[in-house]
Amino acid sequence: MKVKASIKRIENDLQNLRQFGKTEQNGVTRLPFTAEDKAARDYLTQAMQAAGMQVHVDGASNVVGHLEGAKPELPILMIGSHYDTVINGGAYDGILGVVCALEAVRALQECGIKPQRSVDIIAFNDEEGTRFHRGFSGSLAMIGQLTEADLNNDKDRNGISQAELMLQHGFDPHQITSAKRQAEELFAYLELHIEQGPVLAQLGLDIGVVTAIVGTTRYFVEITGQADHAGTTPMTMRKDALAAAAAVIAKVPAYAGLADPNGVATVGFMKVEPCAVNVVPAKVTFSLDIRSQKAEAVPVVAARILQDVKQVCGDELSYQVTMAMSEEPVAMDAGLQDVIEQAAKENGYTARRMVSGAGHDAQIVARICPVAMIFVPSQGGRSHCAVEYTSPEAIAKGAQVLLDTVIQLTK
Ligand code: GLV
Ligand code: MN
Ligand code: MN
Repeated sequence: MKVKASIKRIENDLQNLRQFGKTEQNGVTRLPFTAEDKAARDYLTQAMQAAGMQVHVDGASNVVGHLEGAKPELPILMIGSHYDTVINGGAYDGILGVVCALEAVRALQECGIKPQRSVDIIAFNDEEGTRFHRGFSGSLAMIGQLTEADLNNDKDRNGISQAELMLQHGFDPHQITSAKRQAEELFAYLELHIEQGPVLAQLGLDIGVVTAIVGTTRYFVEITGQADHAGTTPMTMRKDALAAAAAVIAKVPAYAGLADPNGVATVGFMKVEPCAVNVVPAKVTFSLDIRSQKAEAVPVVAARILQDVKQVCGDELSYQVTMAMSEEPVAMDAGLQDVIEQAAKENGYTARRMVSGAGHDAQIVARICPVAMIFVPSQGGRSHCAVEYTSPEAIAKGAQVLLDTVIQLTK
């Protein structure tokens, strides 16, 4: 008998979870260590328990459910994604992979199928890096590569460190290493996710089998000039940090493809100080996010932009550049890609191999075990915004492929 994933249960979870951080624009803002993220964590804990799993929240605030297999000595199959969002993001990015993982376990339980190897669900926190800018802190902690010093160093826009916020929310930063899982424990990690781009929707395809995740390097550039009166200071006497930043930023789109035609570069964050209508800007801090599937392309683009920063600042302004993160492109496991593609085929779904332009926890987990990803289409290719949408029909297909892949890997 075919074990079927229930789209009804998935949609119910999605509808419930989108309430935690719902915005006026019908988007979701669920940043780490807020009341909304606690509510989502509690919901997921209860849902995993109701699915018959042993559940704990680890030292990094990831929710982890364990379904014991018939042979618990075998390495575990881990499935999941993240439960945080960007600011006014969508109701699918991350959380869909968690909910589909939950549904896979529920479907197995409903049919009385006991997997041979144990299955863990993981709902990572802080994949986006929206609050502390590092990103992937939940998965980095899970592989043992997030230190207490990182938690002290990483601050939100109010200058509050992640460590301080963790303490306020009942997590002990000294215990961050308790989230670590050993490589030997894990057989593989699977993550279902919305594509977040236009490829599948434009081609009318059901499933994306991810071959690799692009490399990303993220900087913060701080340009310092001088605050002066906006009415009395002649244009020749100004040290306008924002005018300098604007001159640099205007050229970023043109440089993105310097070493890879598919390369992308984004300035998405900016802080202007003192940020007043009648004061020449004294200081500007902006982010620079550069991505490419070619490892060698990102440094080329970065060097060109940072050369412009130097030139534009000249002797009049000063600048400082800090690298916030740098991840090389990561390949997905070839064998797992085949299993996913086969599952899609057996269901009569159309599938295509593709590169992910978005970052995912899978690229971090890949450092300790084989990983693979299943993409479902994003309507209009829209994501990281309130209108993000994937239809129940499209989700049902992805959930079924995930479930069938889990069955295949645990028998
Ligand atoms: C996460 O969604 C990222 O790609 O930045
Ligand atoms: Mn995501
Ligand atoms: Mn995202």
